[in-house]
Amino acid sequence: MGKERITLEILGREGLARTGRFHTPHGVVMTPNIMPVINPNIRTLSMDQMKKAGTTCLITNSYIIRRNADLREKALKDGLHSLIGFDGPIMTDSGTFQSYVYGDVEFQNRDTVEFQLSVGSDISTILDIFSTPDDSRDKAADAVRVTAERFHEVEDLAETNDLSGPIQGSIYPELREESARIMSSSGASYLPIGGVVPLLEQYRYAELVDIIMSAKLNSNFSKPIHLFGGGHPMFMGMAVLLGVDMFDSASYVKYAKDGRMLYPEGTRDLKDIMELPYWSPLRDRYTAEELRREGEEKRKSLLAEHNLYAIFMEISEIRERIHEQTLWQYVESRARSHPSLFNAFKRILEYSGKMQDYLELYRKPPFMGFDNLSMKSPYAERLKSLEIRPDSVDASYYYSQGTGMSKKFLDEYYENSDNNYHFTWGELEIPVEMEESYPVQQAIMDGFPSIRVQRPTLINSGHARNFNLEKIRFLADFQFGKNSGKALFPDDSQITVSRSTGRIRTVSLEGKILATMRVHDGYLALTMEGGERIRKSSPEMKNRVMVTKESAEFNSQGKSVFFNFIKECDPGIIPYNDVLVVDPDDVLVAVGRPLVSGKEMMQYRKGVAVSINHHLKP
Ligand code: GUN
Repeated sequence: MGKERITLEILGREGLARTGRFHTPHGVVMTPNIMPVINPNIRTLSMDQMKKAGTTCLITNSYIIRRNADLREKALKDGLHSLIGFDGPIMTDSGTFQSYVYGDVEFQNRDTVEFQLSVGSDISTILDIFSTPDDSRDKAADAVRVTAERFHEVEDLAETNDLSGPIQGSIYPELREESARIMSSSGASYLPIGGVVPLLEQYRYAELVDIIMSAKLNSNFSKPIHLFGGGHPMFMGMAVLLGVDMFDSASYVKYAKDGRMLYPEGTRDLKDIMELPYWSPLRDRYTAEELRREGEEKRKSLLAEHNLYAIFMEISEIRERIHEQTLWQYVESRARSHPSLFNAFKRILEYSGKMQDYLELYRKPPFMGFDNLSMKSPYAERLKSLEIRPDSVDASYYYSQGTGMSKKFLDEYYENSDNNYHFTWGELEIPVEMEESYPVQQAIMDGFPSIRVQRPTLINSGHARNFNLEKIRFLADFQFGKNSGKALFPDDSQITVSRSTGRIRTVSLEGKILATMRVHDGYLALTMEGGERIRKSSPEMKNRVMVTKESAEFNSQGKSVFFNFIKECDPGIIPYNDVLVVDPDDVLVAVGRPLVSGKEMMQYRKGVAVSINHHLKP
């Protein structure tokens, strides 16, 4: 058996953000996570202290090890893990950063990688070209090209080893896109975004948003994304929201040297503070004053300990936020801690459209509307894709948050006309048929200006139609594509509603249930009968996940679909929106809930892609 390879198994998600289990030859770590930087020459903290703070993986520099005869010999003889005194995953960097800071380094690319492999690094890094934010476009393009060539030089080593292929390209989005595509299609199994340290140091977060988005949207989602040098807690939440899985951080020591303390929202000078924060590991041993009076070396080590806690506290909060799907809201509120972050948050909103492909049909918590910026989030923006016809009539007057459209409106107008009606959320116009579905019903909008228009002139043409039938057809069109509503629900469908709330529960045809309306998000869940009607009416791969014959047999008995058994799928699949699981002959074997988008589905190799709700066989 060959060496175990790294893989990222996705557990939870919120848009581009994800939590996962990162499998490595030296164990499994949770993502997002941070690799503290260890300088093998200078140990500021003991390994015990580092582990206690939350360290589960590390990064160190192979260049420093190789240049020092003692370290080199020990690493070659006993291995990197023994040298460092850590048995978890260790990534090594190449000396690129040193060559950026000090000029040239004395080693070549291939021998740099071979050295890392020979000491047993879990992830080895090529000698990439660090492009700075000040580089001209030509110089940055050169860095991308040479970095690609350097990876190509070691492509054979990537067949049996995990190599990291840095994405360069300075501040030029199109170069970052190109670099991400090159590295994604290479043998690199790990993708750090490089050349960003100066931007981080200068708080140029909006440009970082462009860089991360260009890299992420053009990378293979099965390969973890790392932000080189991005270990200040201030920007981590935002980076994770855009799809970053891993950070490294030398900042815990760097800041400690300067007497500076990290906090989730920024940095404070030890000389200025009155108290240590409640969460600080130093708090039961020191007052701020005592810390100031400590000797320099001791104080540095103590501050490094504090700083390491600060970054792990933040990454743990970020993971929890993704688990409960409130990271967006967290980043939205934290953006107010610095104008540069706020500016970057506004930049993120410009990507709301591009993020649509990765957005879940719903999130567990309610949608929170604070102001017009909230209405630009991808979760609100998705509502814009719903067709509002130019002649749609504003019926906001008849809509009330919590109770939906009034009975008077439905009886007197909606059901007796062919008009399209909508209500408004600030600047957003929402078709009335969406009143029960995420995020409309599941929203907290206290005090948000829902524009109350004058009582509109509504048109009653005496044409009878049924609001509930129109509603489920509208939802079907939204969930499964245009004209799905009519195909799924014929005129003689029977709709049952809850006696207490009046909300739709099931839709049947000739005594067979076609779909139910999910209580938690107000969207449709298909049965096998409903799924078959959608299959017949959808062209080619639309709404489908096609699996191998062997998998189809398992799935037809209700077992989950695993990524590695998928042959093909609809790239338009929305996470958590029901899909049809079909065999290679397009026979429907199950319907279920996809855990990732169609764009991602063909990229992952490990884990569950679709959990089954209904299946063909007993
Ligand atoms: N450390 C910080 N930035 C970089 C980078 O761009 N490349 C490498 N290899 N290491 C880094």
